[in-house]
Amino acid sequence: MRLRAGAIAAGGACVARAPDGRVTFVRHALPGELVRASVTGESRRFLRADAVEVLEPSPDRVPAPCAFAGPGRCGGCDFQHMALPAQRAAKAGLLRAQLQHHTGLDVPVTVEVPMVHGRIDDDGLGWRTRMQFAVDTSGRAGLRRHRSHEVEPIDDCRIAAPPVAARELLATRWPGAGAVVVACADGGPDPGTGDDAGAGAGAAGAGATRSVVALPHGRTSGAPQPGIGSTATLTAHVLGRRFRISPGSFWQVHQGAPQVLAEAVVTGLQPMAGENVLDLYAGVGLFAAVIGVMVGPSGTVTAVESSRGAAADARYNLRGLARSTVLRSSVAPGVLRRVGPADLVVLDPPRAGAGRAVTAAIAALRPRRVAYVACDPATLGRDLGVLVELGWQIRSLRAFDLFPMTEHVEAVAICEPPGS
Ligand SMILES: C[S@@+](CC[C@H](N)C(=O)[O-])C[C@H]1O[C@@H](n2cnc3c(N)ncnc32)[C@H](O)[C@@H]1O
Repeated sequence: MRLRAGAIAAGGACVARAPDGRVTFVRHALPGELVRASVTGESRRFLRADAVEVLEPSPDRVPAPCAFAGPGRCGGCDFQHMALPAQRAAKAGLLRAQLQHHTGLDVPVTVEVPMVHGRIDDDGLGWRTRMQFAVDTSGRAGLRRHRSHEVEPIDDCRIAAPPVAARELLATRWPGAGAVVVACADGGPDPGTGDDAGAGAGAAGAGATRSVVALPHGRTSGAPQPGIGSTATLTAHVLGRRFRISPGSFWQVHQGAPQVLAEAVVTGLQPMAGENVLDLYAGVGLFAAVIGVMVGPSGTVTAVESSRGAAADARYNLRGLARSTVLRSSVAPGVLRRVGPADLVVLDPPRAGAGRAVTAAIAALRPRRVAYVACDPATLGRDLGVLVELGWQIRSLRAFDLFPMTEHVEAVAICEPPGS
């Protein structure tokens, strides 16, 4: 089909109209381009397609930095063919549209560019500290094709951070494994023992800590297979604090993300000495630790996290803060009533968002401010819609390009209750 590509939709594809009138989501195209597209999926209401030839290119089109990107190839990235400023403008547009749809508010958005080790991220490459490579039946590692179980064999991943040592892992054969999960962090001495956790990291790089786990077929998490992998506990440093991150515990994926997000949260919340703070969906306690120092010994910080391993890490990471508590629990209205009241709330839920009941329960605690950290503009919009319905204001909305080359974007919304 020859198609004229329209705006980018959630999911990263351009919206077009097929000759039979069906809405068509076209990957590998850019807004405004005329393309020849090949259908990759079909339902009664819409089609999916790949742009296989560009007849009229957009000025935002660039050669993909990755040799494995393109129609039918690696499904890991959505925007390798798009100039970085255009990627960021597209993400700002998606976020603004979702907020408008759910809250009725038109909030201008600029997608900010993170710093990595003091350098502005101007190429969108080498940022990803956590990867899951798929392994084919011959034991070769690669990445899955878009919406497929097929593995695209690759010998490098341009978005992987150098300590991942992607080339080395991809050159290795993994017989019997279904996936290879790798995570790395900047390393340094262990917060508890003072031992250098980076020692022996080998290809991960000087000082970096790296964990490599090969999973059997059909498993998405769990212990390494005997004989392959190393489940090193990672150590990371953020704003002068060290964090222990066990294999399986959540940690932000972009090298610069923990610092950028922690700074955005404290700038937005302006924590004061003596305040009571809730960190919901706390992971290993990133925000709780940074804010805990600011509220001081007369304040309290309570972290709520459902994963056993991450909650244990959070306890370890917060152990120097006298009035800190880690509650291993799902975030739910009853739990919030028990742990409240709070002056400040930070929540950083998974992609599904917090949902109406939890969002309303947070509002009922009447905190002075809420910081909502979100990786999904649609669920962020939906949950902010609940706050806006209850009379809350969105005081600021910042967005960060923490997933360059993909359609994903991270946002931090600061909200205030009615009458503030
Ligand atoms: C996006 S991560 C954020 C972690 C942390 N704020 C950070 O930046 O490192 C979400 C966390 O919420 C946890 N989680 C998922 N569902 C949860 C729930 N219903 N209740 C509590 N924690 C949950 C996950 O285990 C994960 O650690």
